[in-house]
Amino acid sequence: MLTSEEIHPDHQGPGKDPFKHSLSRIGRLTGAARLEDGAVTLYGDNANLAIVPVAAGILRLKVFFGENAPDLGTTPAILPLAGPGDSALTEDEEAYTIDSPGLRAVAVKSPFSLKVYDDRGGLLANLLGIEWNEKRSQTALLAMDDRSHFYGLGEKTGFLDKKGERYEMWNSDVYAPHVPDIEALYQSIPWSIHFRYGLPAYGVLLDNPGRTAFDMRTRADRYQISAEKGALDLYIVQGPTLKDVVRHLTALTGRTPLPPKWAVGYQQSRYSYMSQEEVLKVARTFREKKIPCDVLYLDIHYMDEYRVFTWDPVAFPRPHEMMRELEALGFNLVPIVDPGVKKDPSYGPYREGVQNGYFCRKLEGDIFIGPVWPGPSAFPDFTDDGAAAWWGDLHVHYASHGIKGIWNDMNEPSVFNESKTMDLDVVHANNGDPRTHGELHNLYGMLMSKATQEGMKRHLNGERPFVLTRAGYAGIQRYATVWTGDNRAYWEHLAMSIPMVLNLGLSGVAFAGPDIGGFSHHTTGELLARWTQAGAFTPFCRNHSAIDTIRQEPWLFGEKVEDICRSYIGLRYRLMPTLYSLFYEASESGLPIVRPLLMEYPDDANVYNLCDQFLFGPDLLIAPILRPGTFSRAVYLPAGVWIDYWTGERHEGGRWILADAPLATMPMYVRAGGILAEQPLAMYADDATAQSEPITLTVYAGGDGQFRLYEDDGRTYAYEQGAYRLREFNWSEQNGAGKLRCQTAHDGLPHESQKEDSDANADKQTLRIVVRQLSSAPAQAIASGATLQEWTYDAATRQLYAVVEGAAGNFELRLF
Ligand code: GLC
Repeated sequence: MLTSEEIHPDHQGPGKDPFKHSLSRIGRLTGAARLEDGAVTLYGDNANLAIVPVAAGILRLKVFFGENAPDLGTTPAILPLAGPGDSALTEDEEAYTIDSPGLRAVAVKSPFSLKVYDDRGGLLANLLGIEWNEKRSQTALLAMDDRSHFYGLGEKTGFLDKKGERYEMWNSDVYAPHVPDIEALYQSIPWSIHFRYGLPAYGVLLDNPGRTAFDMRTRADRYQISAEKGALDLYIVQGPTLKDVVRHLTALTGRTPLPPKWAVGYQQSRYSYMSQEEVLKVARTFREKKIPCDVLYLDIHYMDEYRVFTWDPVAFPRPHEMMRELEALGFNLVPIVDPGVKKDPSYGPYREGVQNGYFCRKLEGDIFIGPVWPGPSAFPDFTDDGAAAWWGDLHVHYASHGIKGIWNDMNEPSVFNESKTMDLDVVHANNGDPRTHGELHNLYGMLMSKATQEGMKRHLNGERPFVLTRAGYAGIQRYATVWTGDNRAYWEHLAMSIPMVLNLGLSGVAFAGPDIGGFSHHTTGELLARWTQAGAFTPFCRNHSAIDTIRQEPWLFGEKVEDICRSYIGLRYRLMPTLYSLFYEASESGLPIVRPLLMEYPDDANVYNLCDQFLFGPDLLIAPILRPGTFSRAVYLPAGVWIDYWTGERHEGGRWILADAPLATMPMYVRAGGILAEQPLAMYADDATAQSEPITLTVYAGGDGQFRLYEDDGRTYAYEQGAYRLREFNWSEQNGAGKLRCQTAHDGLPHESQKEDSDANADKQTLRIVVRQLSSAPAQAIASGATLQEWTYDAATRQLYAVVEGAAGNFELRLF
């Protein structure tokens, strides 16, 4: 524990700025040359800069020293992009100008500075200079001003807007309470978005997996992006909107693939379910109590003395039998797999790893051994494709039991030693380009998840695997879902989980969530109820708690809390067609599933740091209760009309309202014009009851709106071959008449008549349509392109109900 001694005057060093002394700068630009693929090199007095148009709207800037050509290799974070084609280099007395599709860079010669403009002439990044100290720790200085706000930064504590903060990127296992002072957590995504009202937004990614820092605090007029060691390798990512910035970022670092639908469901964990019998009891209780749940987790106690790829022979004597019962109940099981392999010559994975040279080693050849749960352990070198493939294939141990999901933990890597991680002088093989652990630290966790995902994929016969990870780097979304590590059952952590998940989404990680209820410390019924309400809307939805805490399954806090958990988890399942469609959107465009209001309302100055409420997709506003004993709250409704999800009450936006929130109610609002797709309540994602009835599309009248409904088998990769259906619905109103138009972009699912067993699956050609809050009673409803089987209007609730058949193609429903 830290005491006041920590701030003893004698302990204060020169501060955190490593660049105080002996700084060097690029100086004057003395020449320029063209490289291949439209890249340009600018030569300076003291260093050079490679400028590479990577794709339309993405410009790479890499500092390099000496006379050799720049090394334009990248880390695995960066996808190989085709490149935007050519660029033009022009020179005048003052500056060099590099034009590439979407972007213009103007580099002033003396002293060096560089501005990046978008294709409308809007100023994006204003790079005031680059500095380095005698150890070649480099810093980029970028202009900011009073209007600046910062987002992204991956998984960080604090509020949504990161202005005035400084963060380090160094994957760290932080069990200490996560507080705003903590500069580094488990994930490192060296990425910030610079947002100013009225100006185009842009982002900067630093592709360096060593220790790096983003400092929006120290200087008033500039922010600093630094790399302690290795390259200052920056990607300037164009906007102009926040959505565009995230689209471009995820073109560069990849997108969240469609998960299996079961992984989108509610999940229950505990450190640890101690035996096979206990796991089954929890599973049966969920079903008895009719609380929907898709996944149970096995924490470290399922293993034989924490040896990964084993079962404890006493506590889990018949895993196959356990799996069969779980399957019959509709559960998936996700076991934890840590990277530490117990040092035990009689244990297969350790022996094989040693014999084949798969473990991380020092230059002198010694295997790095560090203590973790199993005691002294070796760590696979995932930077080597051979080791990664070996590790991936070890997962056949799980896949052969029918396990489809793996939980990667401790993969910063966390080591129970003084430095808390692997020795920095370990030399990773890195596929023939050896690098120290210090240089590659932040990549370790991501490469573990990559090996895991690829291995599982090889052994799942065409089913989609699910991987959950604690550590990651830019691009982690391609391989794994992220949970935000060891939070606590504090109300403050419930509140903090929202900006954390929102900023992860703005950093490319659409599929993320916290431990619902809080991991360590002891939850209360009230906290669990409120956290489950909010958690029902975070993309990843798992209740998890630590070994020494009060148990946290939803039924342990009395009937009222149980009912609340049941109904909000149930709501998640009813909204599954909406949620799954948002996952589709994330996989396609990188847009996050949950969004800060700023993303949809970028002109509204009230929302730049608003993070006690959020949007689920574009139109559903979620306003959770984040404090105990609180039964109402202020909710900000942006411009437009908003409809209370529960009561149907209409509110003019552009103002705060006071919402009622008794314990059983979390305030939720739908934008007028918004469309939500719902299905019948299901106990798990593949529950046949969910498929037994048509999807209901609810339109909230009073404005125009759009929604894309995506459907596929939720399990396999058949969608890659076209086995999916994508329909775009547009709702518009004119002179009291409403029109719902469906355009089917793709219809690759079998129609009812083509199915062998027509009872087993929903007739997806039938849609139920509900229009809420119609301004006047329609005299007529007419469908074209599909059959309007029935329609009714309830004047009391101002609600129209219609059933449309043959709704798989293009059709229109008109109300007038
Ligand atoms: C770490 C994980 C936590 C897990 C525990 C035991 O603390 O973050 O989720 O339960 O290890 O495996």
